[in-house]
Amino acid sequence: MTKVAVQFTLNGQEQNEFIEGGSTLLSTLRSKLGLYSTKAGCHQGTCGACTVIIDGEPRLSCLTLAERCTGKEVTTLEGLTSDGALHPLQQAFMEGFAAQCGFCTPGMILAAKTLLDRKPNPSRADVVDAISGNICRCTGYEPIIAAVLAAAEQLRGKKKSA
Ligand code: FES
Ligand code: FES
Repeated sequence: MTKVAVQFTLNGQEQNEFIEGGSTLLSTLRSKLGLYSTKAGCHQGTCGACTVIIDGEPRLSCLTLAERCTGKEVTTLEGLTSDGALHPLQQAFMEGFAAQCGFCTPGMILAAKTLLDRKPNPSRADVVDAISGNICRCTGYEPIIAAVLAAAEQLRGKKKSA
């Protein structure tokens, strides 16, 4: 198979890679770059487990060709922690028991992050809408919604005190 060059920013770092043409971003992240937070669920765009952030928007990495990411900014869950400190969304998921098996959690958190980035004071309906493409088989969704709202409140508090 033909190798193609891809250059993008991944979690704030420049990446220059040669990959198999036609590789998905999901397989590139997991198999080539060793970033395993991005989960491989259905591989067909229906479960949301593979969600990453590309240029500020939630995107399904199983349906995204890696070579199409050239020049873009990609964020995975690994990119959310800073100096080992959990992001408020991660903290809220942990404290609110919003993760059980955890398979959906990275995609949920990244989908929620894009919401909080553009709408710091979301309604419950906004949260439901933002995570509507992400399937969770364990939690019944309520702890996840509560965790996102709690993280939003915490982030607003941080901004005020900054
Ligand atoms: S693995 Fe991409 S949507 Fe399910
Ligand atoms: S915590 Fe298991 S799928 Fe959501």
